Amino acid sequence: MTAKFQKLFSFLKIVLKRPALINLINDSNIVYEERFKQKYSNFTSLPQIEIKDLNGGNAVEEVESFLLDGSSLITDLQLLATLANRESVQTYFEIGTWRGESVHNVAKFTKDCTTLNLSAKEMEKLGWEKKYAQQHGILSEGNPRIIHLTGNTRNFDFKGLQKKYDLIFIDGDHSYDMVVSDTKNVFAHLLHENSIVVWHDYAYSAQKIRFEVFKGILDGIGAENHRYLYHPKNTMCAVFTKDKLAATVFDALEIPSKIFEINIKQKNF
Ligand SMILES: C[S@@+](CC[C@H](N)C(=O)[O-])C[C@H]1O[C@@H](n2cnc3c(N)ncnc32)[C@H](O)[C@@H]1O
Repeated sequence: MTAKFQKLFSFLKIVLKRPALINLINDSNIVYEERFKQKYSNFTSLPQIEIKDLNGGNAVEEVESFLLDGSSLITDLQLLATLANRESVQTYFEIGTWRGESVHNVAKFTKDCTTLNLSAKEMEKLGWEKKYAQQHGILSEGNPRIIHLTGNTRNFDFKGLQKKYDLIFIDGDHSYDMVVSDTKNVFAHLLHENSIVVWHDYAYSAQKIRFEVFKGILDGIGAENHRYLYHPKNTMCAVFTKDKLAATVFDALEIPSKIFEINIKQKNF
């Protein structure tokens, strides 16, 4: 007990010296989980589905990725490509381009793709590294199927697009406020009756939920839409779809019952 008090005392001394450190606790997944439970005591996680079930049992089996920092999981890209491969999906809208990997994989199946990102100027104003800003769209620019829009989703005129999309990917700023704001904008202006929405970073990994984003999604779509949410297994994503899907209960320590065969080919870029 004394050792615990000593630790606490020493910790408080450090926090008093550097108060900003409190943000580390405030922004931790444990704190977000507690806040989440205060509001959503009936939710622990989303029901899980198989990626292939989103397209009649056929999952796309090839995706391309730089496999670098900030790259989505291969299965996240597989999820998007599988959804894009549905006959009903003809149009795609994305928040968050980065190197263009997600939209590049979607554009193999969907001719009409739009991706929205902060402009280079805005990234510079935010003090982000030039080399980071320069890489935006390196895989997607020049593809005639992809329209690149620049803007900050905080004040972007979503209504002005005057278009509803079949598939939407929300993958911009992952802070709680921005997930809520992006989600509300998408739901207010870009959805038709059968649109499918995917959020990245619903989870940190296939088995660890990111409660800040999860709460943002639930608050953003409103209680009437919660029943349409799923977590595609092996991904970091959440999906909104009105498809009737067979689901299973999430188990963070599930014993694996399937294995993926992955062939990796390197090409020059
Ligand atoms: C995680 S990355 C997107 C990754 C990409 N979707 C992929 O899977 O290849 C997030 C992107 O969102 C952009 N972003 C962050 N905040 C934004 C905002 N408020 N408005 C528009 N874009 C934003 C960043 O510049 C970054 O490129």
